[in-house]
Amino acid sequence: MKIIQAKDYAGMSRKAANIVSAQIILFPNSVIGLATGSTPLGVYHQLVEWYRKDDLDFSKIRTVNLDEYSGLSPEHEQSYRYYMNQNLFRDVNIPMESTHLPNGMAQDYEAECKRYDQLITDLGGIDLQLLGIGHNGHIGFNEPDQAFDKTTHRVILNQRTIEANTRFFRNKEEVPKYALTMGIKAIMQARKILLVVSGADKAEILRRAMMGPITPSVPASIIQLHPDVTIVADEAALGRISLS
Ligand code: GLP
Repeated sequence: MKIIQAKDYAGMSRKAANIVSAQIILFPNSVIGLATGSTPLGVYHQLVEWYRKDDLDFSKIRTVNLDEYSGLSPEHEQSYRYYMNQNLFRDVNIPMESTHLPNGMAQDYEAECKRYDQLITDLGGIDLQLLGIGHNGHIGFNEPDQAFDKTTHRVILNQRTIEANTRFFRNKEEVPKYALTMGIKAIMQARKILLVVSGADKAEILRRAMMGPITPSVPASIIQLHPDVTIVADEAALGRISLS
């Protein structure tokens, strides 16, 4: 596990964007696993800036996102498809058909989960998976206390996750109660993992994920077992970990 410390959120975003850029430059047809939430926004904005300077070419890149809310259409401003379109896809030269998210509107969600797993297999697996971490240790929407060996599945969102995500909606009632998420199994099969973490409010969960026991009660703790993990975190997020 490599830990890269950045001074602040902007520094974390640039350092992480450098790692994603290196992947795109070295392997232009990479499959990149993408995350949503507020943490990766700076990474996406930096990538767009470098694309505009002609430093990056996304034309052969394929992307698979970790998750999507159940019941939100791609046009809904809080859907992850909308987020990705707004914050990355529309501003770079990636063909839309190379961008993939679970379909939150699928009525037959079991079939949709199978389709998504098959899609990842057909793409040849994920070369680099970008991750954020929830305050309860979730990655994607893999909430605490679920089996580690799950593939894409539908989850009932935890109260803490609903509360954390209420800030993006008009009120708590509007936050979807379900989501489709890539499972821990697919995340662990990614060839490389890049976890981005910012802020003092994530310091304790980051400590537990990195140094605590590997347990489904902290889903992110499983990445301790992954052979190629890079964590880029700012000083505040690393506040409970001694790097010496
Ligand atoms: C959501 C997403 C996760 C993300 C988490 C943390 O629940 N499904 O993929 O890592 O939020 O979000 P933030 O970065 O806003 O703290």
